[in-house]
Amino acid sequence: MSKEIMNTPEVSRRQMLVGAGKMAAGAAVLSAGLTTVISKAGADTGPMPTPWGYKKLDPQKVADAAYENWYKAYCCYAVASSILDPLREKIGGPYKHLPVQAFIFGHGGTVGWGTLCGTLMGAGLATSFAAGKKGEEILNDVIAWYGDTELPIYKPKNPRAQVINVNASESPLCHISVGKWMKKEGVALKSKERKDRCARIAADVAYKTTELLNKYAVGNFEMDNGSQSGEYGIPSQNSCTECHGENVPEPKDA
Ligand code: HEC
Repeated sequence: MSKEIMNTPEVSRRQMLVGAGKMAAGAAVLSAGLTTVISKAGADTGPMPTPWGYKKLDPQKVADAAYENWYKAYCCYAVASSILDPLREKIGGPYKHLPVQAFIFGHGGTVGWGTLCGTLMGAGLATSFAAGKKGEEILNDVIAWYGDTELPIYKPKNPRAQVINVNASESPLCHISVGKWMKKEGVALKSKERKDRCARIAADVAYKTTELLNKYAVGNFEMDNGSQSGEYGIPSQNSCTECHGENVPEPKDA
């Protein structure tokens, strides 16, 4: 209500009500007009809440795309794009406006800090958009599988380099995963073999994630791995003794 109406004592209560009614009507017209203008401009109903949906994808095709995309912008982008690009085609909607190149930062365990393997970060981004909170459960199982499995498994049609050794990292950390493998293979970070190993692992993670998403799509996904922090009393990887030796500290209960 405008100051002018409020501050004039001689305005009757009836006049005030009429005034208020006119203003409300005016506001409604104005806001209707604004909505039209905004929707004509192509904006803006705000962020689209997740999940944005998922349709079954062919894991082999997704893996092939992840391998190729690794050579465009590395691990995190490779896995995220291999799943999100086909969903843009199959589902469209909000996926059309998602700039997947924003996820390049996950390379080298997040800009080279050797933390979470970028392939797993990419998987988490894809599962979150596709499956929302359920996507966390899918990611949990993908991470457990990653540490337990001898990788890489994927055999590229057009390999960029030969990769001889496989290893189970027993850790989702980039530093540990790539470090153990580099030692076994006897190669440097900048070698074409190391690059191809990481590209193949992107393909493996993309394949596994798609398999689990496909189960989720038909209501068939049940998480295998329990909650890490629930199990240990501290958010953690499983490889306690690799870092702590035999004296693994006991977290406090309460
Ligand atoms: C990647 C290496 C790494 C792994 C794997 C790891 N920790 Fe730790 N943890 C550390 C470091 C470094 C600290 C920092 C404190 C320190 O120096 O002990 C720490 C701290 C802790 C603490 C708090 C400090 C204390 O003394 O109470 C607990 C409890 C703990 N870890 C338990 C575990 C358990 C249980 C596991 C396995 C389920 C585990 N950690 C796996 C590296 C690791």
